[in-house]
Amino acid sequence: MNIVVGVTGGIAAYKTVQLVRLFVKGGHDVTVIPTADALRFVGTPTWEAISRNTVTTSVHDDVARVRHVALGQAADLIVIAPATANTIAKMTAGLADDLLGTTLLATTAPVAIAPAMHTEMWRHPATQANIATLRDRGVHILGPAHGELTGGDSGPGRMLEPEEIHTAALALLAPQDLAGRTIAISAGGTREPIDPVRFLGNRSSGRQGAEVALAAADRGATVRLVAAHVDEGVLAAAERHPLIDVVRLSTAAELETAMTDAAASADVVVMVAAVADFRVAEVSHEKIRKENGAAHLDLVENPDILAGLVAARRPGQTVVGFAAETARDDAELRERGMRKRARKGVDLLAVNRVDWDAGFEAADNAVLLIDGTDAVVAEAAGSKRAVADALWDAVLALR
Ligand code: C5P
Repeated sequence: MNIVVGVTGGIAAYKTVQLVRLFVKGGHDVTVIPTADALRFVGTPTWEAISRNTVTTSVHDDVARVRHVALGQAADLIVIAPATANTIAKMTAGLADDLLGTTLLATTAPVAIAPAMHTEMWRHPATQANIATLRDRGVHILGPAHGELTGGDSGPGRMLEPEEIHTAALALLAPQDLAGRTIAISAGGTREPIDPVRFLGNRSSGRQGAEVALAAADRGATVRLVAAHVDEGVLAAAERHPLIDVVRLSTAAELETAMTDAAASADVVVMVAAVADFRVAEVSHEKIRKENGAAHLDLVENPDILAGLVAARRPGQTVVGFAAETARDDAELRERGMRKRARKGVDLLAVNRVDWDAGFEAADNAVLLIDGTDAVVAEAAGSKRAVADALWDAVLALR
């Protein structure tokens, strides 16, 4: 997507560097348009290096390409962070005395602003009237947060954190094709206790599952995310999302209860979590000490939660599984995926290749999506968010 990030003259501009980085990391083409004042806080080389695009502020730059309207016409989304009281007033009046002003008048894309200013300026009737007008025009107002301000005082006026702006902005880009659906998703890796300090675990970071939840919620679904030891960064994004309800837990037994409960009212169930196949038969309530000699662990098999959910499937409910497989090549991966799809009885199985150095803890992923007729309905590769969106496209096509 083409994203324009407008930066105006507030100290919070330094945080916008991180926002631009998050958009670029997500595969978006980002053009930064600072106001002249913003450049006093963060300079052009920083914006160009982070966005990997040319940065100009004046309507007289790059005139041959009619840049003063071209950027607005090509934009899929415009985010202004920080948005000062001055810029908010200029937007309200429709002023176009710099590149950001002309871009805003030339666009039909959604516009989101993250105000940042001192509490008195935010509360001023002029600013409040301007915000009300912009909101009426469909501008999305993100924040401001209540917190510590630059002068050491505290109150509403602090810019939202870059991660919060990023989550809210991505939601504006998503189609609302899952609106009205209820979805249950498990993510992460279970931990089966051995004693009070040790557990049997696995390498799942939970990032793919959390992205499946975020993508669904951005597309309008109401989501229950059952999270077993999910990476805190991505889990925090899910917890901030108004359409996601996060349940944190640890063991396979807890995950089974939570998913059975969530699935009872879900239109779609997605088991992304890496569930331990075995647990320790008798958990020691004291730390096992090496002085007592080599420990021997008796393991018992955990239930296959996915199989249980398939058996209890409600009419019209779609059940999706994930499988991480080691395989020599794509043909073997596909073969293993087909067999597992049939064994689990799911409507769709996402198979990804894992190895010592692939599949876990990484930003990117690659999956084959196999349906009930053994067809590979999609091959998705890229960011975990891109893989999540491809999964939802496939689920919608099935339904
Ligand atoms: O058999 P395998 O563990 O590869 O299957 C993976 C799929 O089954 C995932 O969707 C996972 O969440 C689910 N699963 C489960 N209960 C288990 C083991 C795996 O629901 N005990």
